[in-house]
Amino acid sequence: MKKNHQKENRRSFIKDKLWKGILFAITGSLPTIARATADQEHLPTAIYTADGETIDWDKVKRMFTLAAKRHHFNTASISPSPKVVQDKTIETIHYLNRFGSEEHKRVEPVRLKLGQLLNAPPTQLAITRNTTEGMNIIARSLGLQKGDEVIITNQEHVGGAAPWLTLQNEIGIGVTVIDIAENEENTCSLLERAITPRTKAISVSHITCTTGAVLPVKDVIVLCKKHGVQSVIDGAQAVGQIPVDLGYLNPDFYAASGHKWLYGPNGTGILYLNKDFLMNTGPLFSGAYTDRIFDINAGLIDYVQSASRYEYGTLNAPIMAGLGAAVDFIQNIGTVRVTDRCKQLSTRFYMGIKGHKNITILTPEKEKLRAAIVTFRISDKQSAEVCRLLVKGGVTVLRHVHENNLNAIRASFAIFTSEEEVDELIARILLLAEANE
Ligand SMILES: Cc1ncc(COP(=O)(O)O)c(C=O)c1O
Repeated sequence: MKKNHQKENRRSFIKDKLWKGILFAITGSLPTIARATADQEHLPTAIYTADGETIDWDKVKRMFTLAAKRHHFNTASISPSPKVVQDKTIETIHYLNRFGSEEHKRVEPVRLKLGQLLNAPPTQLAITRNTTEGMNIIARSLGLQKGDEVIITNQEHVGGAAPWLTLQNEIGIGVTVIDIAENEENTCSLLERAITPRTKAISVSHITCTTGAVLPVKDVIVLCKKHGVQSVIDGAQAVGQIPVDLGYLNPDFYAASGHKWLYGPNGTGILYLNKDFLMNTGPLFSGAYTDRIFDINAGLIDYVQSASRYEYGTLNAPIMAGLGAAVDFIQNIGTVRVTDRCKQLSTRFYMGIKGHKNITILTPEKEKLRAAIVTFRISDKQSAEVCRLLVKGGVTVLRHVHENNLNAIRASFAIFTSEEEVDELIARILLLAEANE
């Protein structure tokens, strides 16, 4: 009896939300590109509601230019940028083409902003193209030899795992893969058990790309120090999704991307390196901007005394300028407000699909172990097919999680996501899950 009642409630929720979704599409209540363009309010004052305290998230949404019917739940892969970021990037392209100038100097202010955002000395931050580049630079700069070992988890993204596995192929390092699935809280003890006298580095995600689990990286870093092992943190999913304080974490290396939770342009990344390492290790690639002494006749090169020795040759100045604008955008709203909002939306989604007998949620439920990502599957259904059905018509952008044969779907919740979009997604998922009954 109770079960029938629950089912009835669920059905009316689905009906209501789906209707609202259709109404959205017809009336255009979601912002259109034209409206977003006309609505270029100046941060930070314009985003507050009348009380001057609460952020008006609808206004924030209108600062993006997503098409009205496009519900984007894939910031964990690549995020759309707000219009200010797009404008800054395009303006810089126009400026450079107008004046034909070389603009490497645009990198420095961005480095300062990133230093402030991450609580790290700018001299320890290199600008890269993406997390993957940072992870490769680290893997190849550690001077690993045949027989040395690196420990990773089975939840790593290919960009965080491939650099080590490639060294396994090339020079014969050992890569130990530990299984942390459904046991993320115990990552540290699982790692400690895998340490041997040959272990040189532990490389783990701050937030996993598979289930969005927030790993206890501070404890991992402390563990590494205890065992004299290098700590390498893949922060692709963390920077912008949760507050990241590198001064507190004090890792040896931390790599991240600008085009995910920082809402920056594609092809922007950050690499943090510990000071001793970077002063004592030559850059993997060298060229213009890595050198402080260069004398071709004397056959001399020496490197700048900072992480910019890991940058080489001409950088893409327009996207650098865009990344700076993205950091300003986030900082103006407030990083804590941003992370709270995205977590609140993901919790709404989590609770909305939780408890259905045909739905399994893979993201840990514990508050401290999750942020703005929820990964789930509908039993007996191929997630690639469910994803295809949900994405149908190009309305919704979601990610199928094929890694580690998870057969799951990942939804991420960003600052441009509305409650209505979350509810409509819940309704559509419940509808598919009901079809299984
Ligand atoms: C944990 C993790 N590491 C690395 C990457 C690769 O990021 P990028 O393509 O920016 O190098 C991703 C991308 O989703 C990721 O989730």
